[in-house]
Amino acid sequence: MGDPTTIRRLYGRSKGRPLRPAQAALVEELLPQVAVPEQGPLDSRRLFGDERPLHFEIGFGAGEHLAWQAERRPGDGFVGAEPFLNGVAAALGHVRDRGLANVRLHMGDALGVLERLPGASLSGVYLLHPDPWPKARHAKRRMVSDGPLDLIAAKLKPGGELRLGTDDPVYCRWAMMVMGRRRDFDWQAEAAGDFLERPADWPETRYEAKARREGREVWYFRYRRAASAGTSRSSRPPEPSRSSSSR
Ligand SMILES: C[S@@+](CC[C@H](N)C(=O)[O-])C[C@H]1O[C@@H](n2cnc3c(N)ncnc32)[C@H](O)[C@@H]1O
Repeated sequence: MGDPTTIRRLYGRSKGRPLRPAQAALVEELLPQVAVPEQGPLDSRRLFGDERPLHFEIGFGAGEHLAWQAERRPGDGFVGAEPFLNGVAAALGHVRDRGLANVRLHMGDALGVLERLPGASLSGVYLLHPDPWPKARHAKRRMVSDGPLDLIAAKLKPGGELRLGTDDPVYCRWAMMVMGRRRDFDWQAEAAGDFLERPADWPETRYEAKARREGREVWYFRYRRAASAGTSRSSRPPEPSRSSSSR
């Protein structure tokens, strides 16, 4: 397995503008109630008190996608990690406003939490607009790299889904290259439209909305964890260009 440890220390800012008093109160009072335990192995029972399908979001930003998914599937458990304090405060606001009992949050690195989950335990992993690290010399810091992907593959159930959204054309091509050579994920795109249009059960994040306002395109990748590494398709994926209609 490649080593994902460099990536976990490389996330950007962890604090932005000062929290409003109501947000600070949420962090003080609600976060301890929904926080992922700091130490030890994690599983559905420890996190939610019962056996349920688990989902994990890496870098949930302001938490709107996590909250949307959690509200839609109250019987599933949703775990999110985000080092940015203001994002965690915003996510706590969603948890409170929507009365979500099936969300657990970790303020910090996602990979350290992923590592503590059992193998083949996750039904879904969401990686929406990961930091692009656009310079070629920083490519190894991208979350879509073999180290983190090995970890994600180990924690996804066979048939579980990894979703990746990006508005960065360099990241888009990079992800297609890295994912295209992996045998443990099957790309769920049959035609270009499958990754050029947002699936109905994939709500727009604040970051995505900003990208669109600023005229950037967005790509939506869905991969299924192959039952075994040998069963993955090896066919050439469709081109990301919007002019192509099918592969
Ligand atoms: C460009 S933002 C996208 C946020 C959100 N997914 C969205 O679409 O609105 C990337 C996020 O990844 C977070 N991040 C970076 N490295 C991380 C890590 N190792 N673990 C968890 N989150 C991380 C950053 O703090 C940031 O909020």
